[in-house]
Amino acid sequence: MAREQFGICAEPNLHGTYLIFNAMDDSNAFIRQALSRIPAMLDHYADRFSEANLNGVVAIGANYWDELVPQGRPKLLAPFPTLQADDRIAPATSGDIYIEIRSDRADVNHIVSTKVVELLEDKVELIEQTRAFRYLDGRDLTGFVDGTENPQGLHRREVALVREEADPDFAGGSYLHIQRYRHNMKLWNMLKEKAQEDVFGRTKLDNVEYASADKPLTAHTKRTNLKDADGKSIEILRQSMPYGDMKVQGLFFTSYCHSPEPFTLMLKSMIQGDGEGHFDHMLKYTEAQTGVAFFAPSLNVLAGLAE
Ligand code: HEM
Repeated sequence: MAREQFGICAEPNLHGTYLIFNAMDDSNAFIRQALSRIPAMLDHYADRFSEANLNGVVAIGANYWDELVPQGRPKLLAPFPTLQADDRIAPATSGDIYIEIRSDRADVNHIVSTKVVELLEDKVELIEQTRAFRYLDGRDLTGFVDGTENPQGLHRREVALVREEADPDFAGGSYLHIQRYRHNMKLWNMLKEKAQEDVFGRTKLDNVEYASADKPLTAHTKRTNLKDADGKSIEILRQSMPYGDMKVQGLFFTSYCHSPEPFTLMLKSMIQGDGEGHFDHMLKYTEAQTGVAFFAPSLNVLAGLAE
């Protein structure tokens, strides 16, 4: 089977850098060569700073794929699903190339990001550079542990990677959705702890899931814990990290999956709700400012871009 990019299923790190670029006109041949070299570059720095647990992901935007890789397209690759209901919005924004760099050292991420930007030269425009960090014991800046119900161990691969039988040419790749959320921390901090816990459907300090009967229909975990027609859990692999400075704070959300459908269903359930007015109350305190759909191809497909 094709080998996946190691950053997709990697365990959480202490520091992350999320870079998004748009391609300049007539630069596709150059960009194909450059992207095909990034996995070797990541290997090199992972060796050099072996204690830093460096990993990364290269992904290509849904709206750019056909231009960069005209030979064929992942079967389910589609533009980001723009959604709106009342004042709850999930906008679609631009992004041709996505590079995620994660490690346990901010300086190593800086070195590798600099090399990536040098490699792509002036053939791209850098439109996003978000530096993110692990907060306390893996919490979002709201104070709640994020990632508890993520798939674990080998199951991460089943959830995140395209299977051979589903799409042989793109097996080992992953459908990626990103959204940069900006939190309204002032409003959030005005809520009492119990009200905050109701928003997530989990307790804050000790991170215990509410009993099913106690979980409001508007809780974030109620709206995102979905089952298919056979009662099987619909899952994604989240590799989100908090970001922020003294002016702006939030979560850089990322979802990796073998299909774009689970993310889309969850986002609909959050924004549009259950048809009876129960939307995700977390959205009263945070707002998505970006939204882009990408495909992170296998290492084999990435290497083939140079041919
Ligand atoms: C669960 C935070 C956006 C999907 C959670 C949990 C937290 C959280 C604290 C509970 C612990 C856990 O299981 O990880 C956030 C924040 C977001 C955000 C702060 C944005 C500001 C999203 C989005 C999706 C999503 C956009 C998908 C479209 C999920 C899923 C779970 C989850 C599937 C697990 C539900 C379960 O099975 O209990 N999130 N989340 N989240 N979130 Fe989010």
